[in-house]
Amino acid sequence: MDKLNIAVVATKPFDGQRPGTSGLRKKTRVFMQPCYVENFVQSVFNAVRETDAPAGFEQETLVVGGDGRYFNREAIQTIIRMAAANGWGRVLVGRGGILSTPAVSATIRRRKATGGLVLSASHNPGGINEDFGIKYNIRNGGPAPESVTERIYAETQKITEYRTVEHTDIDLEKEGSVALGATEVVVIDSLADYTAVMEELFDFKQLYALFQSGFRMLFDAMSAVTGPYARSILEERLGAPRGTVINGTPLEDFGGHHPDPNMVHAHELVERMSASDAPDFGAACDGDGDRNLILGRGFFVTPGDSLAIIADHAPRVIPGYRAGLKGVARSMPTSTAVDRVAESLGITCYETPTGWKFFGNLLDAGLCTMCGEESFGTGSDHVREKDGLWAVLCWLSILAATRKSVKEVVEEHWQRFGRSYYQRHDYEALEAAPAAEMIAELREQLSFLKGTSIGESTVASADDFSYTDPVDGSTSTHQGLRIFLEDGSRIVFRLSGTGTEGATLRIYLERFAQDGGTSDIEQVLAPLARDVRALLKLNERFKREEPTVIT
Ligand code: G1P
Ligand code: ZN
Repeated sequence: MDKLNIAVVATKPFDGQRPGTSGLRKKTRVFMQPCYVENFVQSVFNAVRETDAPAGFEQETLVVGGDGRYFNREAIQTIIRMAAANGWGRVLVGRGGILSTPAVSATIRRRKATGGLVLSASHNPGGINEDFGIKYNIRNGGPAPESVTERIYAETQKITEYRTVEHTDIDLEKEGSVALGATEVVVIDSLADYTAVMEELFDFKQLYALFQSGFRMLFDAMSAVTGPYARSILEERLGAPRGTVINGTPLEDFGGHHPDPNMVHAHELVERMSASDAPDFGAACDGDGDRNLILGRGFFVTPGDSLAIIADHAPRVIPGYRAGLKGVARSMPTSTAVDRVAESLGITCYETPTGWKFFGNLLDAGLCTMCGEESFGTGSDHVREKDGLWAVLCWLSILAATRKSVKEVVEEHWQRFGRSYYQRHDYEALEAAPAAEMIAELREQLSFLKGTSIGESTVASADDFSYTDPVDGSTSTHQGLRIFLEDGSRIVFRLSGTGTEGATLRIYLERFAQDGGTSDIEQVLAPLARDVRALLKLNERFKREEPTVIT
């Protein structure tokens, strides 16, 4: 065993190391400052030791991996050295530093690790001038809950020193073990644990037969982390033809694109799915592999509909859910489509604040099996993160069992359950202070809105969403402003907790109709969007007429 020189390095707190909706996210250059990563990682270790490893980390395992973006490898080497200096028993690192977010979750669970560090800024662009992020996941494989992230933040504010060792970089390309003092650093196959979980849930033989029958799909990995996973599962295991996976090599800058699987950023896929010779099914995942986009031929499935349709079909068509669903959950701004499926199944639908971390307790307690968010996130109790490829395999299973097209599956759903016409309008890079002020003013207005009119309709009720976790009783307040109209529409307002520049205002528009889903979504929602802009005085405040992105 090497004798290690442990260095205790003096440091001072940085402002603003408070984890947001999904870990600590900043510009890459912010992370590249001396001591920045070190301070945050040491603070995570300090917080975790207090509750999870009071006797020290000797018996504990840490999982580390990221989406391959710029600075991923450097940050991983720093973390490995610090883990050794802090006495962790084992560090499991994905080969090449690569682990998708759901794969980190799967590995934590299967290897009974204490926790993991995920290096990603998810769907935000990568590069020296773009974004980076670090998120801590706990023993259940899920993002640390607020109680933990707040403790981490408290540590970042009082940190005076961090620990590291003097050691050359570990070769991340070579699978196997290396001893760093008493710490065993194991470079693991990035795909193995995740693929095993998928194989337990899905009928790979049935999906293989689907591709054998001539079914064709396109999967856009957006030059991000899911490339290797999708090639291995779709092309190698399920026999999809080579070329099914496009943009399949993870690049440090994601090819200069925004690895966000929506109609705007996945335009190559969207175009190919609209061509006359388009394949049967199209899908994409984001930078770190937890989000998904589902397309048919010239047809887009909204995330809210996708969650509802997967929940409805899963017990019949996916072996892993044969026993039925215990319950479902969605974030508050997500469309209410899944609520109606829950009602038909006789199960509870939980409504949580935005952010996957709120599903963790429900899943752990066995209160719900599936959950989702409008932001292209869908998942289940197989891991504790949303899971992009899992959603793709769910849809493949539905298409294999029904032998219908994506469009037919969705239209049948609307016939049966009615349709939530739904859009999210984002106004990005607003000035932070006036944006916060605008939300504060609207919050003040809420109690007077009832009975007033917005456009053609009357406000039935309005509130500021707060959530009490049914498992641990913790309460999260100010989770989004909601206005319900008498015509069955709902409007939700909140500021993003993941942006790295100014403020992003998100306006979520929903209108339910039992009309077989045949109306034009623009016509249904445009008046509502216009009235809401007027209510907020967006043009006067920010000179903004139109949203930056509509999803
Ligand atoms: C956004 C999404 C949210 C998701 C989060 C992390 O957060 O809205 O649903 O959980 O990214 O992927 P926001 O920027 O809205 O706080
Ligand atoms: Zn993501």
